[in-house]
Amino acid sequence: MEKFIVWEKKYLIGINEIDEQHEKLIDLINEFYWTFKQGRSREDINIFFKKTKDFIKIHLELEEYYFEKFNFEFKDEHKIQHDFFRNETKKLEEKFYSGEYTVSYEFMSLLRKWFLDHIQTSDRKYIECFKANGLM
Ligand SMILES: [Fe+2]
Ligand SMILES: [Fe+2]
Repeated sequence: MEKFIVWEKKYLIGINEIDEQHEKLIDLINEFYWTFKQGRSREDINIFFKKTKDFIKIHLELEEYYFEKFNFEFKDEHKIQHDFFRNETKKLEEKFYSGEYTVSYEFMSLLRKWFLDHIQTSDRKYIECFKANGLM
């Protein structure tokens, strides 16, 4: 299966729960890409659009849950980045549900660019805080 995103060690941040979710998200994006590329039915693309979007929601909320719980110093600026991404996703979602299925590709590209950049820069900033609060 051709991959849209190839998982690399450099994406690991060293906190299991988070790494597992990041990896799962990359898997989902790859499956989504594959479904889209094969020219599968709208229903199938729909399912993956929703699956990916729902999982992103879970992931961002998990990080934010810990930000609050551990009173993470940079939680506000981190949440602003999450919100930016939520808004972009929402815009694409609206287009998608109005019948523009080609936005699936835009969505995947956004994910690849935003998400990979985000996990390698912003997410690294909470490692110390999360670890100091017992996550491993
Ligand atoms: Fe993350
Ligand atoms: Fe994040």
